[in-house]
Amino acid sequence: MFIATEGVYLGRRVVVWLYDLYANHYDDVKNYQSLYEHALLADPIMDQVAPHQSPLILDVATGTGRLPLAMLNHSSFQGRIIGIDLSRRMLHNAAEKLNGYSDQVPLIWNPAENLPFADSTFDVVTSLESLEFMSRPEAVVAEMIRVLRPGGLLLMTNRIGTRLMPGKTWSKEQLNELLSTFDLDDAYVEAWQVDYHKVWAIKSGDSQPTGKRPLGEILRCPCCDTLMVERDGAWVCEKCKGRAAIGRDGVIELFPLQESC
Ligand SMILES: C[S@@+](CC[C@H](N)C(=O)[O-])C[C@H]1O[C@@H](n2cnc3c(N)ncnc32)[C@H](O)[C@@H]1O
Repeated sequence: MFIATEGVYLGRRVVVWLYDLYANHYDDVKNYQSLYEHALLADPIMDQVAPHQSPLILDVATGTGRLPLAMLNHSSFQGRIIGIDLSRRMLHNAAEKLNGYSDQVPLIWNPAENLPFADSTFDVVTSLESLEFMSRPEAVVAEMIRVLRPGGLLLMTNRIGTRLMPGKTWSKEQLNELLSTFDLDDAYVEAWQVDYHKVWAIKSGDSQPTGKRPLGEILRCPCCDTLMVERDGAWVCEKCKGRAAIGRDGVIELFPLQESC
């Protein structure tokens, strides 16, 4: 159960420690097929945002970069996708795969529970196969919806068909109840894999697409909520002097700064 549930009953530190440990085997175990990733993830996302081709996407718990890779492989995608994860090792492997795309796909070491962006920033917010491994998944969903702009697209997954994770997956009723606590339109659940359903929704209201704004226009200091600036190999906050290093692999290391706030 410890292995099957990625340590989720022991808290966030253990989950992340296990992902760090397991990162080099993750892709082999998952064996994602680009054809399916295109047909079942990237294509439906591009369909939903059409005719807009340059959405600003946030992928929460991006792991080894599954969704960014699927989007980059889509011929119409011209947007920017920011990947956030708390496992530094998973992000390192994502960075190796996304080598050369760090501007279009910035990767940030940061917890899903505190997203370093203002309300209503993103055109699309996604989280795949992750929420059941979080200690406070409802809080993460609330964060995801907070940073999504009105009219923006939410895509997340709900784990199904497991008796091994009591209290960590949502029944149909629990999922509906959770979704009803937010201001969402057109929420629906779509069958996807043996273990997961996809959950789609639109944030109520309307607003102009954000488009592929650069990170310098949206990344906020986790300590004082000021816009951060890239300078001398780091992202710095001119107000509180917080500093997040950029790793040699290009990953922005916000987590240590957040821990020190
Ligand atoms: C099963 S993997 C899914 C990765 C990717 N979304 C995919 O579909 O391949 C779960 C990911 O959630 C991340 N994760 C777990 N708890 C987290 C948290 N509190 N904040 C950010 N990431 C977290 C793990 O590090 C891991 O990369």
